[in-house]
Amino acid sequence: MADSWVNSAEILGSDLHLELTRAGSRRTALMAALREAIRDGRLAPDTRLPPYRSLAADLGIARNTVADAYAELVAEGWLTARQGSGTRVASRPAPPSPARRAARRARGGQLPLPTGGRRGPRPAPRPVHSLLQGQPDAASFPRAAWLASARRALTAAPNEAFGPGDPRGRPELRRALADYLARARGVRTDPERIVVCSGFAHALRLLGETRLTRPRMAVESYGLAFHRSLLRSAGIRTVPLPLDADGALTDGLADLDGVRAALLTPAHQFPTGGPLHPGRRAAAVAWARESGGLVLEDDYDGEFRYDRRPVGAVQGLDPDRVVYLGSVSKSLSPALRLGWMVLPDHLVDRLLAVKGEREGWTGVLDQLTLADFIESGGYDRHVRRMRQHYRRRRDQLVAALAEHAPHIRVSGIAAGLHAVLELPPGTERSALRAAAWQGLALDGLGGYRHPEATTPRLDGLVVGYATPPEHSFAGALDALCRALPPEQTAA
Ligand SMILES: Cc1ncc(COP(=O)(O)O)c(C=O)c1O
Repeated sequence: MADSWVNSAEILGSDLHLELTRAGSRRTALMAALREAIRDGRLAPDTRLPPYRSLAADLGIARNTVADAYAELVAEGWLTARQGSGTRVASRPAPPSPARRAARRARGGQLPLPTGGRRGPRPAPRPVHSLLQGQPDAASFPRAAWLASARRALTAAPNEAFGPGDPRGRPELRRALADYLARARGVRTDPERIVVCSGFAHALRLLGETRLTRPRMAVESYGLAFHRSLLRSAGIRTVPLPLDADGALTDGLADLDGVRAALLTPAHQFPTGGPLHPGRRAAAVAWARESGGLVLEDDYDGEFRYDRRPVGAVQGLDPDRVVYLGSVSKSLSPALRLGWMVLPDHLVDRLLAVKGEREGWTGVLDQLTLADFIESGGYDRHVRRMRQHYRRRRDQLVAALAEHAPHIRVSGIAAGLHAVLELPPGTERSALRAAAWQGLALDGLGGYRHPEATTPRLDGLVVGYATPPEHSFAGALDALCRALPPEQTAA
């Protein structure tokens, strides 16, 4: 392939994108991309490269190809390889000798540029690592099991499945979801009250269009700005509910004028991380009953709980007042765009009127595949495996902090794919800048705060531990620990 490219997020950690544009073999392209990354500072001196086995697996190329590329770059002086410390970027790649230069020219290879001599302030390097929250581990998508389900689903699909789709979603999927959600999340439903959609964001849009959630919707003081702006475009004004360690202060819902619905993340407040206190769950439902309002329950990562305390769905308390919303975006992949709403009876027709007469959003074959995946036990197996995987990651994060930054408190770790590092007041911005200098992409809590929130401001870092490829997770944690503010001593 003359113009092959590789996303080096898979090579060196997220957000370092290398284009392997050189013609020729994979080895040549990989070498050129690594040289380029070293030359422009994205790969800093002494950075440890992934073992060639994991890099080869990530890229889907032969180990020998990576091993050869590393060996040649060592010979050229770009990399060093020492027993016990792996392959690292050389501290100052030496210009090649005249003989080597001639040999490379003869092969059409690229020459390293001499280093040094850079003047002026250096911009922060482009990120090499990412601990941004938001995505599951892409490398763990259960490709083989999904493929087996897709094959079975396609083989068994009746001919009518290939016609225009029912906007409720396929009955096979709604049946599978009704059983699964009752068993795993304590949701009270039957298939008739489930409407399939293309993820949580789509559900929020549709609910906004029903007008039942207008003119104002209560949201948690910290949450995704993207969801708030989506509601704004649907003509809904969001009103921030104060938050503390027990979640949103739902007792205050009755005092909010014009609020017809409350959007909550009860199992794992997003992003601060605690479960909603049982008294506040009950208060939210009581408010909905008394006011005729609705609770919208965003159960975005309810499958991933690591302590023994089960946190079931609030929907189980009152299926007529709570809309339960879920998707596969955290459990499988956000690329699938598959989600579901469990609606009160009285809302089903209203929602379907908004959605339209035909399914225009989610592919029927993906729906059938997910139905098979759930019913064959594949979904449970995958969730169990990922729960262990993420739990190990979380434990590694907690251990790294205990060793290198014991003064930093970490919270929200009983569930989900991210944790919050609580920072001393006023240090969030500088910690984010320090992270950028360590080549680490990271979010602060500030970006999640509702602009009108009155709840005390929190300084903190939101650390997504699911995303980095296995080989670069330790490096990402090192970079994180180096970016944290030192312990503040009393004057
Ligand atoms: C708070 C929150 N809600 C919901 C979702 C799911 O969104 P979607 O199903 O639209 O991908 C996410 C991300 O996965 C999230 O972070």
